[in-house]
Amino acid sequence: MQSFQLYEHAATVPVTSYNAQEWQRGYESVKQEYDYWIDDVEGEIPADLNGTLFRNGPGLLDINGQRIHHPFDGDGMIAKIAFKDGRAHFSNRFVRTKGYQEEQAAGRILYRGVFGTQKPGGWLANAFDLRQKNIANTNVIYWGDKLLALWEAAEPYRLDPYTLETLGLEYLDGVLEPGDAFSAHPRIDGKTGRLVNFSIKPGLSSTITIYEFDPSGKLLTKHAHSVPGFAFIHDFAITPNYCIFFQNPVTFNPLPFVLGLRGAAECIKFNSNKPTQIVIIPRNPKQPMQLREIQAGFVFHHANAFEQGDKIYLDSICYESLPSVEPESDYRQTDFEALSPGQLWRFEIDLNRSQAPAREPGGRSQAPAREPGVQRQMLESRCCEFPWVNPTKVGQPYRYLYMGAAHAPSGNAPLQAIVKLDLNSGSRQLWSAAPKGYVSEPVFVPRPETENEDDGWLLTLVYDSAQHRSYLAILDARDLNRAPVARLHLKHHVPYGLHGSFTPDWFGSLRSQ
Ligand code: CO
Repeated sequence: MQSFQLYEHAATVPVTSYNAQEWQRGYESVKQEYDYWIDDVEGEIPADLNGTLFRNGPGLLDINGQRIHHPFDGDGMIAKIAFKDGRAHFSNRFVRTKGYQEEQAAGRILYRGVFGTQKPGGWLANAFDLRQKNIANTNVIYWGDKLLALWEAAEPYRLDPYTLETLGLEYLDGVLEPGDAFSAHPRIDGKTGRLVNFSIKPGLSSTITIYEFDPSGKLLTKHAHSVPGFAFIHDFAITPNYCIFFQNPVTFNPLPFVLGLRGAAECIKFNSNKPTQIVIIPRNPKQPMQLREIQAGFVFHHANAFEQGDKIYLDSICYESLPSVEPESDYRQTDFEALSPGQLWRFEIDLNRSQAPAREPGGRSQAPAREPGVQRQMLESRCCEFPWVNPTKVGQPYRYLYMGAAHAPSGNAPLQAIVKLDLNSGSRQLWSAAPKGYVSEPVFVPRPETENEDDGWLLTLVYDSAQHRSYLAILDARDLNRAPVARLHLKHHVPYGLHGSFTPDWFGSLRSQ
């Protein structure tokens, strides 16, 4: 395996590249909503970088001092950086969900969170309260002329892309009904521009519904499939003909949730004795679903998938298991070294070998018998998360993959670096913000009018613990060994976010234009 080429600064960072107390401060709430031109810029914002970056993530980690139990329960806050002619404008607004407005008015926690946030007053105050707060905190996309804040267990919220004002729940021209889920991980087909998304209705057997829209937002297909067992599925991947899911081996015991003792996600238990199930659903609703069992593991995010002949190749970030979320735990005290890292694996799924285990000509079993027609190979052992590819390569054979990564080559640690993998040559590059910086998902923006897959920029919001502020790093995706093209220092920090996207449309603040 080739060694990393390190951006020169990274070589001077001590082996333990982070400080847990400094890392924690990136989880402080940001209560203010800002709106300003960014004037503290190191380097130069590329003149041909035009458009708008939207980020979503938990903005509040407390309600009036009452602590949110887990960041996944925090109210969604959109951060927006709009680029035009070498300048950039920042603004942020909370999504005015029903729950956000009620809790802000009351000044206290009124809803239980899926990840264990409880109302004050112990289990008696929480028992039998099964109301769900749609926190709209996971992703934000501008698509079909709509800006949508997404959370996987409920409908999207629609926002005004200029002002980030919340316009209300969005039903996609009647495709969704009140209470319907709509995953926070839609995929936009790199060839056709179609948007494919899914929703999960978990139960003893679970229902996966697939939605496919044309680029204007018109529904093309909607089809539902039942899979055996409880499904906790956050993400999926697409190819021109298939949607691919990993059904993680988890069980759900709702009793402690109903009784007010635990949040719903705290009732999910990983079961390493059960296989992970690969669910392959053709995008053509007339074709049958396929299921494959593989060794147990847990996946939040898939990087990409593509087809070659009768095979599907799927690249996913896998964990040995899903750590339980415990009621008495504090996420801020996370012992990174005690957890297994996410690592990138490639799965090769032979569509013609659905039942029999793969065998070598000599008759010896080549793969475990429970992995019929599935081969796997580790592509990256460094702790990594938040994969991104050039948007034109979604569902297509591709060469370059970008991810958030740990600074150190082994072990589990906070994400402080961005790694670029060349899947053709096996070489990789790393830009590290350690020891003071903590990165977020790298959003790839193609340079206009170019065909080269890695010709563009990576935009990553970095929490700078030295300043307790955040900056946006603009990296030249062609060469991460170079220093960032620009660092745009914000006046404040942005709490660690989840996902976001870029649109070439300019949505700077109307007020400041
Ligand atoms: Co996600």
